[in-house]
Amino acid sequence: MNEHYPFVNPPLPYAYDSLEPYIDTQTMYIHHDRQLQRYVVELNTILRDYPELQNLSLEELLTNTESLPEEIRQSIINYGGGVYNHIIYFNGMINSQERSQAGTLYPIILRDFGTIENFFNEYKRNALSVFGSGYAWLVVDQNGTLSIVTTPNQNTPISFGLCDLGHGCLGACLFSAAF
Ligand SMILES: [Fe+2]
Repeated sequence: MNEHYPFVNPPLPYAYDSLEPYIDTQTMYIHHDRQLQRYVVELNTILRDYPELQNLSLEELLTNTESLPEEIRQSIINYGGGVYNHIIYFNGMINSQERSQAGTLYPIILRDFGTIENFFNEYKRNALSVFGSGYAWLVVDQNGTLSIVTTPNQNTPISFGLCDLGHGCLGACLFSAAF
């Protein structure tokens, strides 16, 4: 992925069928090759006429949306968010055979949610509360505290000071069937 314009659609970090039976090959294809690809193309098309924005990273574009030209602000939130969210989504998943709970995130989840079951339940409850297209996110704030938030459409938590640049986003989950 280029740091800035022109953005590219990076290849999936695993095979299209790697996450079956949880996510099938066609779903991966649709979200990577069609949706993410379209978001990349649309974002580049918008930025083509704004050379002053072409050196900004996705994070910089999405964390300073108020400073964006008004006529393209919502389009960058939509398409830039679509690129950012999908890349986090794809990079945040792994084949369950390779999954480990020994990573650094696991003890922090226990600290902030009590048990892994409680975390899963909270995550699912939040995800199911999203109406239409959107995401449920595991985010970290400036104090290093984890929480679960939801966003509609392709809005991204980094626009709200969560998943801040110092900590990065920890995870994301596509929820809705009406992407
Ligand atoms: Fe998608």
